[in-house]
Amino acid sequence: MRKAAIFTIGTTVAATLLAPAIPVTAATTTLQAENATIFHGVVESNHAGFTGTGFVNYNNEVGSWVQWSINVGTSGSVSLVFRFANGTTASRPMTIAVDGATLATPSFPGTGAWTTWTTTTVSSNLAAGTHTVRATATTANGGPNVDSLQVTDGTGGGGAPTASELLAKVTSCAQISNGTYKTDSENSRTIPVCDKTGAVWWRADMDIDCDGIRTTQCNENTDCCFLPDTAFHDSQGRPLNSAQLPYVVVPSPSSTWDYRQFGIRGAGVVAVIFNNRVEYAVVGDTGPTDIIGEASYRTASDLGIDPNPSTGGSDGPVTYIFFKNSQASPIEDHNGTVTQGQQLARQFVNNN
Ligand code: GCU
Repeated sequence: MRKAAIFTIGTTVAATLLAPAIPVTAATTTLQAENATIFHGVVESNHAGFTGTGFVNYNNEVGSWVQWSINVGTSGSVSLVFRFANGTTASRPMTIAVDGATLATPSFPGTGAWTTWTTTTVSSNLAAGTHTVRATATTANGGPNVDSLQVTDGTGGGGAPTASELLAKVTSCAQISNGTYKTDSENSRTIPVCDKTGAVWWRADMDIDCDGIRTTQCNENTDCCFLPDTAFHDSQGRPLNSAQLPYVVVPSPSSTWDYRQFGIRGAGVVAVIFNNRVEYAVVGDTGPTDIIGEASYRTASDLGIDPNPSTGGSDGPVTYIFFKNSQASPIEDHNGTVTQGQQLARQFVNNN
């Protein structure tokens, strides 16, 4: 259940001190093939050992490809590490092109089994900024199964984007909702749901959803409207733990908007941005059909927002970016969500 928060001034500083630091850059970024642009290939997950949610099975033909968008921080040598499996005994060479220019044609040899994954590395001198990397099959067998592309540069510029890099991509709204939402029941409808390549976003307030497992922080005494359940459950079938797990609430489907029709589902990965910080969370609960802007106790406390279900929350602006077709696995694995969220956020910045 959600309720309108009463806002207090003066608690933010104390809460800020408790929030863990979120790394904003890393020297190495792993970009999953299943999230890249795929030409004549399918995403599958039937051979164990892949990372992310699957791998790309290239069509068995010349010319099928997977293309990633990468970001390089500073001009210099960049290594491109392709993780793949080839369960046959014949090599499946692919040309690797950056911005359309062929760099190399590694052989992608047999790995012994479709479940045995290995890497091939290609290096290139690249200018700072975004580039495309395309791996194109050159034989009638197509490419190997490709799991990911790992990009390492000298500066870490390919890592997780900062709050401002993300916000720079959500300055204007391509509205996809039929009408708008309220931030609280007493307000008028002003908040649209907006579309981007690979994501849906909105900018609203943050009310505290303390529903799910009963904890010291979230129970009938701390929260007038406590419900011992969340719309989505953990891998053991239990309601989520609002005090522990950063999760976000989406409006229940209605004629205004139905999140399920836009690649958003329970455990979908969300970047939540507030006060120059980014928190990665999952879709964990559903709320009223006319109200937007709500997240779990832990989401708030990680962002330096008072998480108290009866007195906390923030007027915002809080920006919520939902990555389409993403899924944390399992929903309660916050570290995994952060890793996946950072990769998806980098791709989002590169692709928009
Ligand atoms: C098998 C295997 C696929 C693979 C394909 C191929 O069907 O299960 O994962 O992509 O062979 O030869 O390309």
